[in-house]
Amino acid sequence: MARRYISDLNWNDVTPRALYLNRRQLIGAGGAALGAGLIGGATAAQGELTPNSWDEITSYNNFYEFGTRKEDPARNAHTLTTQPWSIVIDGLVDNPGTYSMEQIVEGMTIEERIYRFRCVEAWSMVIPWNGFELADLLTRVGVQSGARYVAFETALRPDEMPGVRLPVLDWPYREGLRLDEAMHPLTLMATGLYGEPMPNQNGAPIRLVVPWKYGFKSIKSIVRITLTDTEPHATWNATQPQEYGFYSNVNPTVDHPRWSQATERRIGDGLFASRIPTLMFNGYEAEVASLYEGMDLTAQF
Ligand code: MTE
Repeated sequence: MARRYISDLNWNDVTPRALYLNRRQLIGAGGAALGAGLIGGATAAQGELTPNSWDEITSYNNFYEFGTRKEDPARNAHTLTTQPWSIVIDGLVDNPGTYSMEQIVEGMTIEERIYRFRCVEAWSMVIPWNGFELADLLTRVGVQSGARYVAFETALRPDEMPGVRLPVLDWPYREGLRLDEAMHPLTLMATGLYGEPMPNQNGAPIRLVVPWKYGFKSIKSIVRITLTDTEPHATWNATQPQEYGFYSNVNPTVDHPRWSQATERRIGDGLFASRIPTLMFNGYEAEVASLYEGMDLTAQF
């Protein structure tokens, strides 16, 4: 049930909402073990996560192309044209080209993944994404042996994105991962949430989700993916390198220079709710710690 092969569906036809709700009820009734099994591909702990509501996830956003306030993307992002959509995949790949969304999702396994999402601003949510593993896409285009990093770029459309008319960031928004991070099975290309197509404010039609890293690594509305041998330009890292490292792994023991990262405020819990402890690698330590063995995480933050 959790895994669907979508060769006969189009890219925004992800898990129907009714099926999704049905599954949530099952999880509620059956407990964590059943939940984890139904979610599939996820760790046991994720079966216990309770997602934030649709309204919370779609009304409190960071998408500076549509304004810098949390409510701006929900208000402004409807102007983004998401169909047709294509992604240029280039650099050190065997099959470079411009791929339509239909070509990209063809044959991909669209799964539901309920992930913790931790923003660098010390708030968090739990989000039920729908998507496929980035590794599957990279394998399909053929990664060449010299590739060490993956660079991503968001669309830059001044006509549709009021925020990019101001030099708030060095547009287009760009991000990057080391190749082993990109190939990790937790790294998702998300095409929807709650079984619905991705809302524009959350990065339609396709965005990255890297659940053990601060939210700004999860770049939205991607139009270019480049395999490269050098560390890619990453927007926040380039803007304030002393505040935002290239890795940006969630780490409660390494504070941001201007605030603590030891705790977080869970969106939806109310302003007076107590903060909860932030977990190493956002709770995905067992899955990803080995990627960083031997690295000094205070220096390479
Ligand atoms: N991607 C683009 N293109 N522009 C942005 O401003 N903001 C990042 C990230 N991806 C951002 C982006 C930040 S800071 C966060 S916390 C997440 O998107 C927010 O994702 P959400 O709105 O789906 O929760």
